Parts: sequence; C-alpha cells; structure tokens
Amino acid sequence: MRDQHTIVITCGKGINGILKDEIEKLGYRHLVVNPYSVEIKGSLNDCMHLNLHLRTATRVLLLIRRFRADNPDSLYHAISKIPWEDYLYDNGYVSVTSFIKNPSIKDTRFGNQKVKDAIVDRIHGQRGRRPDSGPARDGVVIHLHWVNQDCYIYFDTSGETISKHGYRRIPFKAPLRESLAAALVKSTRWQQHQPFINPMGGSGTLAIEAAMMVRNIPPGLNRSNFGFMHLKAFDREQWAVMVDRARENIRPSVSAPIMVNDISLEALRAAKKNAEWAGVEQSIVFDHGDFKNMKIPQPPGIVILNPEYGSRLGEAQKLTKTYGEIGDFFKTHCNGYWGYIFSGNPDLTKKIGLRSSKKSTFYNGKIECRLIEFELYQGSKKND
Ligand SMILES: C[S@@+](CC[C@H](N)C(=O)[O-])C[C@H]1O[C@@H](n2cnc3c(N)ncnc32)[C@H](O)[C@@H]1O
Repeated sequence: MRDQHTIVITCGKGINGILKDEIEKLGYRHLVVNPYSVEIKGSLNDCMHLNLHLRTATRVLLLIRRFRADNPDSLYHAISKIPWEDYLYDNGYVSVTSFIKNPSIKDTRFGNQKVKDAIVDRIHGQRGRRPDSGPARDGVVIHLHWVNQDCYIYFDTSGETISKHGYRRIPFKAPLRESLAAALVKSTRWQQHQPFINPMGGSGTLAIEAAMMVRNIPPGLNRSNFGFMHLKAFDREQWAVMVDRARENIRPSVSAPIMVNDISLEALRAAKKNAEWAGVEQSIVFDHGDFKNMKIPQPPGIVILNPEYGSRLGEAQKLTKTYGEIGDFFKTHCNGYWGYIFSGNPDLTKKIGLRSSKKSTFYNGKIECRLIEFELYQGSKKND
C-alpha cells in the first residue's frame, strides 16, 4: 500500500468544496470533487496524514479493489480472491460497513455478512485461523460501496469517523458536529488575526474549532486509534514522525480574541471542559450572560451565532423575539464586523430584519440550514 491508490475522502452534504480547499492546502493535487466526497491518488501514508489533519472530512477510504457483482454469491467469490492475509493480521478484528443499492440485497446487513465471511474464510484457508469480527470500529474497517453491479472495496482508514474531533466530552444542548463547525468557520470571512466572537456559544464547538485552526492543532492529534493502525502495512515510525512534526508546528497562542459567551452557566462549564480537552482553553475568553450585553472588541472581525431554531411546534414562536434582538445587537454593537447566523428556520432568520450579503446551505444532520452573512456597519440596511 506504499503505491498509489484511489483515496476517497467523504464529507457531509454541502461541504465538498470546503473539503477540496482543505485537501489542496495540505499539498495534494489533481482532486476530483464528487457530491459527498473528494478523490485523490495516494498511499496509506497519505491516508495517515489526511486523518491527522483534516477538519471537515468524515472518513478517509483507500480503494483496494473494484469489480462487478450481480448477487451476494458473486460478491463473496470476488472478495475471496483478494489476498486479505497480506493486509490483515489473522488474530486481528474486522468490521464491515456498506452503502448498497443492488436489487439482490434487501438488508445491507446481509451484504456486510457476505463480505465478512469472504474475508475470514480466506484468511482461515491461508493461515488456519479466523480474525474476530463484529460491529465495533476499533480494528480494521472494510467499506463496501455497491451500486447496481459496481462494487468498490475500501479500507476505511479512519475507523471511527473523523468528523468528531475527540474533545467533546460534555455535549450540552444541540451541539454542532465538529466537522460541520469547522466548515462553517472556514466559510466565513474571518482572518486569523481578527476577533472571533461567538455570543451563543453552547458547548463551544465553533470557538474551539477556530482556536485549533489559529494554533495549528490538528484534530487527529489527541486520538490514539485509527483504522489504518490495524493494517499490516501501517508504518508506525512514519506515524510518529508525522505526529512529532505536527506537535512542533503548534503555535503557542492566538493573536486576537476568540470569545465564547452563553446565558447558561452549564453550557459555559461544558465549553471550558471541551476547550481544555482540545488544548485551547487558554486561547478562548469565556463570558457568562445575555448576548445583548456582550462587549465587542475593536478592530472588528466576525461575530457568529448558532441560536436554537425550534424544531417543535410552539418553540419557534418563543424564538421570534430572540432573532429580532440578534438583528438589533448586530446593528448596535457590531459595527464594522461581518455577522453570521447559522439556523435551520428561514421564518425565524427573516426576523433579524437586516439585508444579508450571502447565504450558504449546509445540513445539520438531516435539517437543511443556512449560514447567512451580514455586512454590519452603522445604519446597516434593513431587509426590503
Ligand atoms: C443551539 S445552542 C448552540 C450550540 C453550539 N453551536 C454548540 O456547538 O454547542 C444555542 C445556545 O444559545 C444559548 N442562548 C440562548 N439564549 C441566549 C441569550 N439570550 N444569550 C446568550 N446565550 C443564549 C443557549 O444557552 C444555547 O447554549
């Protein structure tokens, strides 16, 4: 696996363009952008590098084999021909995940079972011993993508998803997925020498991601287990070099304030704990209170809010006033800033009452959301 393979880096809906930029900045070229992924050519060591550094990705898949299969038996047959004994330890642990759209498969679990059987039978035939298998993603993870007759077999080199960045021990209410928060931060006009203000910070995800970016702390640094570590081809020394280099490149501090505020003390406690796990608690200013009373520093930067958006009936009505107050806060407190609201409720965001300069679509789980940008200056324009 030192040679060049297709590597598919998956992401949430709407994030592919941001992920592409992130991969390019890590030095990779000739990228192919798909709706839910970006493809490059590379080796297992490249997968290690990507797993360590990528903030907006979900997982890093290394293509092992591509073939055609009509039914579960032909799938089994093709997978048995792959020399698994060269890749996997016979005393290891394997799990299988899949995306299947083939008329012969009604339940994807059956497809997964076929793949697993083919792998362990092959290793048993070659080595006289079967690796363990099960649903946990803490050993080797094989991913099957099977649409019509086209089958792709990958190593999921991430194992557990890399969309979680490992620092969130206390979630509080409706936290953003870390990879989505990183994508939101990257979609704003924020420059790292400018203030980053998060007045409804909750468990702190947006600010923690911003601080990790400024400090150059890779999200994979504090994680001890990845799928690639369980492959025979895993180069432990090379991994140690990558990790050491990443540690050496961490900046000791931030150059402009990164502020988290919340009205809930419980949320702030969670945010502080999470920031501590991420290694950035010294880089963030934590404030307790109503966002309307926040003191906003000058010169300006960005102010970003992710208010609740009331998925249940009745909740949204209560939030109407809050969204109106956000508009007033933008106008009266945030002169010269770029303001951002991330919300899944278009009726509520209209209540902000300011003319937006940009809207980008993201998905928070299944909910379609918008990141809405406002240019804030004295007497910012009212909505027409
Ligand atoms: C949807 S949550 C934010 C989640 C956050 N993005 C995260 O990843 O954890 C909204 C937060 O706004 C806070 N909040 C609600 N009203 C507020 C107010 N008037 N002033 C400050 N914070 C407020 C809530 O306590 C809650 O933590």
